[in-house]
Amino acid sequence: MPVTAVVGAQWGDEGKGRMVDWLAQEADLVIRFQGGDNAGHTVVNEHGRFALHMVPSGIFNPKTTCIIGAGTVVHPGGLLEEIQSLVAARIGVDNLWVEKRAHVVLPYHRLLDGLQEKARGAAQIGTTRRGIGPAYSDKAARTGVRMGDLLRPDYLRERLAASLPQKNRTLVEHGEEALELDPLVAELVAWGEALRERIVDTLPLVQRAVKAGKNVLLEGQLGVMRDLDWGTYPFVTSSNPLVGAAGAGLPPTAIDRVIGIVKAYSTAVGAGPFPTELEDEAGQLLRQAGAEYGATTGRPRRCGWYDAVAVSHAAWLNGFSSLAVTKLDVLDAFDEIKVCTAYELHGRRIDYVPDTPDMAEAIPVYETWSGWKTSTADARRWDDLPKPARAYLHRIAELAGVPIEFVSVGPERDQLLEMHLSPWLSGRLRR
Ligand code: GDP
Ligand code: IMO
Ligand code: MG
Repeated sequence: MPVTAVVGAQWGDEGKGRMVDWLAQEADLVIRFQGGDNAGHTVVNEHGRFALHMVPSGIFNPKTTCIIGAGTVVHPGGLLEEIQSLVAARIGVDNLWVEKRAHVVLPYHRLLDGLQEKARGAAQIGTTRRGIGPAYSDKAARTGVRMGDLLRPDYLRERLAASLPQKNRTLVEHGEEALELDPLVAELVAWGEALRERIVDTLPLVQRAVKAGKNVLLEGQLGVMRDLDWGTYPFVTSSNPLVGAAGAGLPPTAIDRVIGIVKAYSTAVGAGPFPTELEDEAGQLLRQAGAEYGATTGRPRRCGWYDAVAVSHAAWLNGFSSLAVTKLDVLDAFDEIKVCTAYELHGRRIDYVPDTPDMAEAIPVYETWSGWKTSTADARRWDDLPKPARAYLHRIAELAGVPIEFVSVGPERDQLLEMHLSPWLSGRLRR
């Protein structure tokens, strides 16, 4: 399919990087369309193990052009480090481009992210402290700096001279030192120089690819439950992880396929309502078996059962064509597995995601499925999976109302089952 979007259907860390790496084997173009280096997209393949933050997960295919799109926010220093570590691992980065309209995460955005979190006290969001919220705030307030501005030192200085005094007042108010304009401009200009060849207008590249019917992948960051509009606000990120064509540089009508990435259970990093969270042994087993520690911050992830209400929310908002279910193997160790099919809210059963204060009081309604207690890591075809695993997957597809196209049973590139969709669509799924 020419244009495919890959988006997170839960609270992030569903395995988007792993799926994009797989799909990019046949992609001409991969575009990261939103978010910043709050992302940690893990890819394990013949080149090694990588946690990508800003660079699209298609970078391992030398034939794939990779774009950091207009909807993203970029910390240039962080990006340069990431590029260097890829080069050190002998990964080619000649095909990596940064849209000049993408916004810059400035050094003071990171400082402010930390200070704002501290000031929130008990109401902390648990951000990654990468400056994402402050950078998108400035973008919306029209006081931001864009990647293209790094190549125009005079204009850059003007922009920063206008915004720095107010930022400094906030820094000083919080007991930090004020930043000086000259070294700030110098640092940004140096980063701009180092990235000069890559900072371009990416629109012609995208247009050419789409018009020529090339294989294009849109790589999302995070997941719908942290979406600025449709997630558990204010415990969200400051962009829209929903399928985002505009941030990539193409019209929504150009998207042919939307793949929702779902973990076979749920995890979340950071604060906010997470109804199926398990604070017992089952939760610990999920964390241990799934190595659930943040790829960006190293924080232990909160773990819980699969939440079909949240995934249905994601399926509607994104219009999923299919699902990729990841980490099925992590459930291999369980005697029984639960699936949340509804919430109970103030004594009433609901099947939708309510607004945040109600979400915090939602009690999951579970159905219980039997485990399979056998390794799925070597399964490569549907028939290789144990019967209870097939039944569990069948139920996930049924509850989401979306067919499953991929099942992943390990972090390695080839630990994947690819399904032919037609029998899945018809409701005649074999159990
Ligand atoms: P992303 O942010 O959506 O790209 O996901 P992350 O990379 O943050 O988290 C997914 C984690 O699960 C990574 O450590 C992957 O290597 C790992 N992973 C992905 N798919 C599988 C799988 O099917 N089984 C297991 N055991 N690990 C997987
Ligand atoms: P990927 O792309 C999981 C969470 C943070 C916090 C909230 C806001 O790897 O799935 P932010 O730094 O964005 O202002 O933090 O969002 N968060 C993520 N959680 N995976 C991510 O990215 C995340 N990016 C941000 O923990 O709750
Ligand atoms: Mg991640």
